[in-house]
Amino acid sequence: MSVDATGEKILVTAALPYANGPLHLGHLAGAYIPADVYVRYQRLKGMDVLFICGSDEHGVPITIRADREKVTPQEVVDRYHAIMADSFRRMGILFDNYSRTSLPLHHRISQEFFLTLHRKGYIREETVRQFYCEPCRRFLPDRYIEGECPHCHASGARGDQCEACGRWLEPEQLIAPKCKVCAAAPELRSTRHWYFALSRLQESLERWQASKPEWKSNVREFCSGWFKEGLTDRPITRDIDWGVPVPLPGAEGKVLYVWFDAPIGYISSSVEWAEKQGRPDRWRDYWLDPRTRLVHFIGKDNIVFHAIVWPAALMAHGEYVLPAQIPANEFLNIEGRKISTSRNWAVWVDDYLEVFPPDPLRYYFEANAPENKDADFTWKDFQARNNGDLADVLGNLVNRCLTFVEKHFDGRVPPAGTLQPADRALLDSVGRSAASIGASLEEFQVRRAVTELMDLARLGNKYFNDAAPWSELKKDRDRCASILNTTLQLQLALSFLMEPFMPHSAEKLRLMLGRPATLEGARWEAVAGLRLADGHPLGTREILFHKIEDPVIEAQMAKLGK
Ligand code: MF3
Ligand code: ZN
Repeated sequence: MSVDATGEKILVTAALPYANGPLHLGHLAGAYIPADVYVRYQRLKGMDVLFICGSDEHGVPITIRADREKVTPQEVVDRYHAIMADSFRRMGILFDNYSRTSLPLHHRISQEFFLTLHRKGYIREETVRQFYCEPCRRFLPDRYIEGECPHCHASGARGDQCEACGRWLEPEQLIAPKCKVCAAAPELRSTRHWYFALSRLQESLERWQASKPEWKSNVREFCSGWFKEGLTDRPITRDIDWGVPVPLPGAEGKVLYVWFDAPIGYISSSVEWAEKQGRPDRWRDYWLDPRTRLVHFIGKDNIVFHAIVWPAALMAHGEYVLPAQIPANEFLNIEGRKISTSRNWAVWVDDYLEVFPPDPLRYYFEANAPENKDADFTWKDFQARNNGDLADVLGNLVNRCLTFVEKHFDGRVPPAGTLQPADRALLDSVGRSAASIGASLEEFQVRRAVTELMDLARLGNKYFNDAAPWSELKKDRDRCASILNTTLQLQLALSFLMEPFMPHSAEKLRLMLGRPATLEGARWEAVAGLRLADGHPLGTREILFHKIEDPVIEAQMAKLGK
């Protein structure tokens, strides 16, 4: 990995998904595909990047699932951790480390983090009254309680948050609370908890965020709403037996709240990565160096934790870098409706991959990313994007040109000869496209970036049609060769520029062009200078993108909600 001379580096994280179910399309569109595109691009620029993720294995979503299935929480997380890790890998979302928060390493680091805050006076103990369910014989933390939202009066609001209006709640605020497991009405009892002094950090947080005008407006607006209401101290412990034990005497049976330990998973996953590298101190190069740009990719439901509570914890701790950017995406709907895993109104990544290759889905979410508003996935749009953009534009350009070269030029790159203005214009557009795609990605505008990539492929198609090499073949074989050569050089550039977006197809295209699959040493800034030599033998031609037929799409649509 090359290291920038300035020591500048980027630590990219994607939200740790709960290991309480397989990965679905909403996950991919929100955090993971944008993060992977960004990381791949930065690496092609020669940046030193560490890309970190892992499974979030604590918290009530896990224990509720375990209760329902009558298995242990560990069994639940073992199962889904494996499925999710596999889905990420097959989608080409390649973290440097995919860890998990049930590891002893993570427990130790979270406890140390807690104790540092405790020692510095940011954590205090309090006796509070909390809901207790008599039939279930236990305290009911946040999501174990449901009731009516005191703000918007939606029913089914959880003890920690109302999904309908997005407000963060305290369980006591719920109207007519019920135990989620047995539906009994719980009673209030005394219990001890530890609170994080978030209110004391409001001023520092506001001052720090004032220095981040480049943050996305959804994140800034969300935070200013919170600041206006005034931050209050947050309880960061829970009365359950699944989680990181509170490392204090007399705290038996108490664990850290999942939202306290989960982001610490970014650190513990980095530590685990360094250990696996055999260079156990390397995580420090990222977390302790002010030249690191820490970038958290998340979905909008995670904004408050990443933009307020977690930075506050980092400030209180005092040693680590603070986030530089928090690109938060909006939500993804499916066929016009909100994703619901319980009603199976979802598309599971492992199911998708049984039928389709990864890149069409990557492309779909790059072109339709919920960047500024919620986006809607429909199978018909997916088919149209695949068949229209990928097969008809990009795939067709490649196929027509390679078939022609195979047939009339023995499968070798025809000599460039003397280029004409139209040829040079096409080749000149490569550098410009690379620069504008790069500029878009620096601003986390994946949608705009992938459109610019496709525009370049369209330009290639137009050039090929206008230049009409088939009509030159008999008239002027040298001119025909120049046209094909120019089109092949464009494809070489595309096989490079596609890499962040569609890495599997980019590799396939490079192999068809007779180039190595990997990109060792190539740089984004130098893409306009990449050349296939005259006479260079091309590889084996394949179909780059297959069209998707109607019955295949209809079969997928029929699975929704079943
Ligand atoms: N598990 C959470 C969710 O799926 C995200 C956790 S992000 C982290 O919403 F920062 F806490 F790791
Ligand atoms: Zn109960």
